Amino acid sequence: MATTCVLGAQWGDEGKARVVDLLADTADIVVRYQGGGNAGHTVVFEGQTYRLHLIPSGILRPHATCVVAHGVVVDCGTLLGEVDELRKRGVEVGANLVISDRAHVVMPWHKRLDVKREEMAGSRAHGTTGRGIGPCYADKVSYRGIRVGDLYDEEWFAERLRMNIEEKNRLLVDAYGGEPLEFEPIRDEYMRYAELIKPFVGDAVTLLLDAVDAGKNILFEGAQGVLLDVDLGSYPYVTGSNSCALGVPSGTGVPPRSLDRVIGVAKVYMTRVGTGPFPTEDEGEGGQRLRDAGHEYGTTTGRPRRCGWFDAVAMRYSVRSNGIDEVVLVKLDVLRGFPTIKVCTAYESPDGQRLDRMPATASELNRVVPVYEELPGFEEDVTGARVPADLPQNALDLLAFIEQQMGAPISQVSVGPSREQIVRMNGAS
Ligand code: GDP
Ligand code: IMO
Ligand code: MG
Repeated sequence: MATTCVLGAQWGDEGKARVVDLLADTADIVVRYQGGGNAGHTVVFEGQTYRLHLIPSGILRPHATCVVAHGVVVDCGTLLGEVDELRKRGVEVGANLVISDRAHVVMPWHKRLDVKREEMAGSRAHGTTGRGIGPCYADKVSYRGIRVGDLYDEEWFAERLRMNIEEKNRLLVDAYGGEPLEFEPIRDEYMRYAELIKPFVGDAVTLLLDAVDAGKNILFEGAQGVLLDVDLGSYPYVTGSNSCALGVPSGTGVPPRSLDRVIGVAKVYMTRVGTGPFPTEDEGEGGQRLRDAGHEYGTTTGRPRRCGWFDAVAMRYSVRSNGIDEVVLVKLDVLRGFPTIKVCTAYESPDGQRLDRMPATASELNRVVPVYEELPGFEEDVTGARVPADLPQNALDLLAFIEQQMGAPISQVSVGPSREQIVRMNGAS
């Protein structure tokens, strides 16, 4: 396996964690490289459902070391809650978890600013998860951030805290009319966190560089998806980090050339949470049916996900811009019983021009009309399928069409949430 990146090729919630969980079987190290508590990653096996936000999904494989690298913004409360919950359920969390000392810490003002900004935007709200992600990354690149390692130098931490509180109170109180932040309770809270997370904190860059040199199997677990990437996504309706493959070197410190394989995860239809363009969204009966059959409600916020049809224009963009070697397509089972299944093969702009590339601006993407190919559906229950021959011909034809449209091979097809509900396509390893 060597170094493999598993990333979302759509607008998040593609089923990345279920794919990481499968591959983690043979991984030495599983690494989260970006995002934070905004992620909601679900793994189902032996009838148990695990929901993770910050800890890599590899934690459910006892042999794997799990790393939260510096590209991730760490909410200490969420992290400790997750550790507790996993331990309560009998999952070992100890020396197998390493949190980078270079990772930025989500502070109380990040969450408050996130929520206040959303409130103030009213009907123009972004629909963030409210986890302080954008404000934390903004502080990182404007040199105001506090990193995990800073928590262990009390004086330095206190100075950074004071400086931030002074600045953020102007925003929170003067601009947003909120309550001021107080130094002491925050200092005490974070000093307590520092002690509690100390056993996990380490130099993740050196750990990963040594692992690359030793030829270890490393799995990089993406959060969000390419279309939410701060640069490649539908800006401004994106998240604050590079959720695409280039987030791996910047978010972990491994050299760009050390990434051997990129796996894109995609649903066989499409979903999005929050505001922003979604050309293939189906706001009618079809979308509702996808939501019901696919249980499309957010893992982190519980919000209903917007649902629509597979967008091959967007997928081609994700495949090309990330060098996706193979795609794992999930939720084929959800399409059962639809008389026909739509696949968007191109966009049409308002002046009638056919587009087969991804427009750069949200306003342009909002105006395009999808051009659909309609393929016959299937009635059979596919949840028990394990080899391609178990799948109905119409499903196989749909997969072949999607594969040809995306420009990347489908290596596996998921037919249910559970670990074993996977069909390895012909020739896939
Ligand atoms: P992630 O954020 O990309 O890891 O994905 P989420 O965990 O947010 O959402 C994916 C959801 O789909 C989870 O509830 C999974 O258990 C579920 N899931 C994954 N693969 C399949 C599948 O093939 N069929 C069905 N029905 N559910 C699936
Ligand atoms: P996983 O890893 C789906 C969306 C939010 C919002 C936008 C910005 O589970 O796929 P943020 O809180 O990051 O500032 O919100 O990004 N978003 C996600 N959508 N899956 C996710 O993570 C997401 N993380 C953020 O809904 O539109
Ligand atoms: Mg999710």
